[in-house]
Formats: sequence, C-alpha cells, structure tokens
Amino acid sequence: MLEKLEQIKLDALAAMDKITDQESLLVWRATYTGKKSALMDIFNQMRELSKEERPLVGKRANEVRQDLEKRYEEKQSEIKKELLKESLQSEILDVTLPGRNLSHGRLHPTTQTLRRIYKIFAEMGFQVYRSREVETDDFNFTHLNMPQHHPARDMWDTFYTNTEGVILRTHTSPGQIHAMKEYFPEPIRVILPGMCYRYEQVSTRSEMQFTQVEGLAVGHDITFGDLKGTLSDFARRLFDADVRTRFRASHFPFTEPSAEMDVECFVCNGDGCSVCKQTGWLEILGSGMVHPNVLRAGGYDPEVYSGFAFGMGPERLTMLLHRIGDIRNFWRNDMRFLEQF
Ligand code: PHE
Repeated sequence: MLEKLEQIKLDALAAMDKITDQESLLVWRATYTGKKSALMDIFNQMRELSKEERPLVGKRANEVRQDLEKRYEEKQSEIKKELLKESLQSEILDVTLPGRNLSHGRLHPTTQTLRRIYKIFAEMGFQVYRSREVETDDFNFTHLNMPQHHPARDMWDTFYTNTEGVILRTHTSPGQIHAMKEYFPEPIRVILPGMCYRYEQVSTRSEMQFTQVEGLAVGHDITFGDLKGTLSDFARRLFDADVRTRFRASHFPFTEPSAEMDVECFVCNGDGCSVCKQTGWLEILGSGMVHPNVLRAGGYDPEVYSGFAFGMGPERLTMLLHRIGDIRNFWRNDMRFLEQF
C-alpha cells in the first residue's frame, strides 16, 4: 500500500507538470484527488488493513493528499498570474483615442406637455396639488356624488384591490375632495396632475394607465363664465392664439351643469379631416360647475360657495399636438418614438 501511495504521488506530480490551463487543472484535481481517484480508493480500503499497518498507511495517505492539494493551489496561482500577464499585454489601452459620446437624455413627451400645462395654469394663479393614486371607494365615487351601487359608477371600469373599499383611482377627481378638505374655508385654485388607472381594453385610443390633469376653483361668486373664460384662454395658450373653442352640454355626476370642450381641429382648420373624424372639432376635456353635493363633501356650503372643475388627458393632448396615432407608444419605451420629442 505504501508503495502504491508513492506511485500515485509520482504519477500525479508528473501529470501536473504538463498542465498549463485552468480547465485541465480541474480535470487533474478530479482525477487525482476526487471521489473516484486511486488515492481515495486507498482511504476506502483502510478498513481491510491490519492494526499495525493502518496508522502508517493512514498517515502517509494524508500527507500525499496534502501534498497534492498544495501543488494544486500553487498551480492555480501560477495560471492566474500567467493570465493576468497575457491580458496586460493584449489589452493595452490607447488613452489617446477619442471618447464615446454620451447621448443626451430628454423628457418624456407627456412630461413635456404636463410642464406646459403647469406653466399656463401657474400664470393664471393655479397651484399644483398632488394627491394619492391608491384611493378609497369613498373618495373616487361616493364623495363625488356617486353613492354605493349607483349605476354612474359604471362609467369607469375600476381596478379593485384585495382590501375592501381600496381601489386605484379611475380619475383625478377624488383629489378635488382632498384639496377642499385641506383648504376649507379658503378659496381654491388648484390643478391636480397624476396617474389614473382603468380596467379597459387597451387600444390605439385608450390605455389602462394614463395621466390626467384635474382643475378646481372654489370661492365666492364663481360662475360658468369663469369656467369658459379660463378654459378658452387655456386652449389659446396651449394651441394657438386664435384657436376657436366650443362647449357641448354633457353629463358628469360631480358637476352640474357639465360641458365638454372642443377645440377647432388645427389639422384642417375646421374643414373636416381624418384626425377630427370630419367634424372639424377635437374634444379635449370634461368640465362643469362643482355639484352642491361635492362641495358639501369637501366641507364647503353650496349656499355660500361655488366652483368649477375640469379634467383633461395630457396623452390625448400630446397626440393632438404631435399627430401621434397610437396612445400605446407612450409606455412602449421605444427609443425611436421617444427620440422624436
Ligand atoms: N373625471 C372626469 C373623467 O375622468 C373628467 C372631469 C373632471 C369632468 C372634472 C368634469 C369635471 O372623465
């Protein structure tokens, strides 16, 4: 057994001398020190030896194993050194080469539109008011004059959560209530931008996730004339100084009366084209006088206060401004689309 051990050691070391790369080093380790190696066989056969022989062979076998492991470590570091030397020679840096240009980042088209909207309303005295995206059923519906089980709620396909009464807001209108509760009894001029969510079939015209900008003005003697003046002026500042606007009667549960505002189609100047579907007009927002029940829900007495509210979709406005045909582009993260803005 002892001679066999010496032979194993000699063979292993001889084989090691030929090794120059990492891969064959691993094969060597498996062959000479692995579970199926001749060396391990010796350990396995120890039981069959006599009492006198056993400690001698055991001691020597352990020594051989240690020697081979040591040799393995040495070889390992030799190979590493060699590799480093090679890479230092082959990967010489030419520090005189010109650098790579960093491409400039840019704002997302929706953000650009949002900032234009903020600026226009800031000039008219409106502050930006942020409110939460995860809402309660009460704020998204009940306080906005849509009681439990009221069919008007069906106008918004809603994402519900596992928590009873907690939903993703379907519009920015619940922010009206938050703002009123916070500002009472002061007059209010705010816009409420942010993300909204609807459980809808995604198409070229609607996404499940989109931004809205809500507006709210509450105070004494605020009239429908104020609403019309503010929103027409907004359209002129956003689109064109002499763009024409019109208000169409509409219905929202939280405003009374309600109206949608159209701007004259700036592609055909009102003649009728594919963008405006031959009507000459483009719908850009919903609006109305704040419903007395909504004022009350916010803590304002409708006998004393009045107000107007509106809501628009910046993606839709951006599509109109840049003639974008498919709303899904806004979330696709395709650089070819985004780089155009
Ligand atoms: N919240 C309405 C919607 O999402 C828009 C709206 C806001 C209408 C405020 C009137 C007043 O469709």
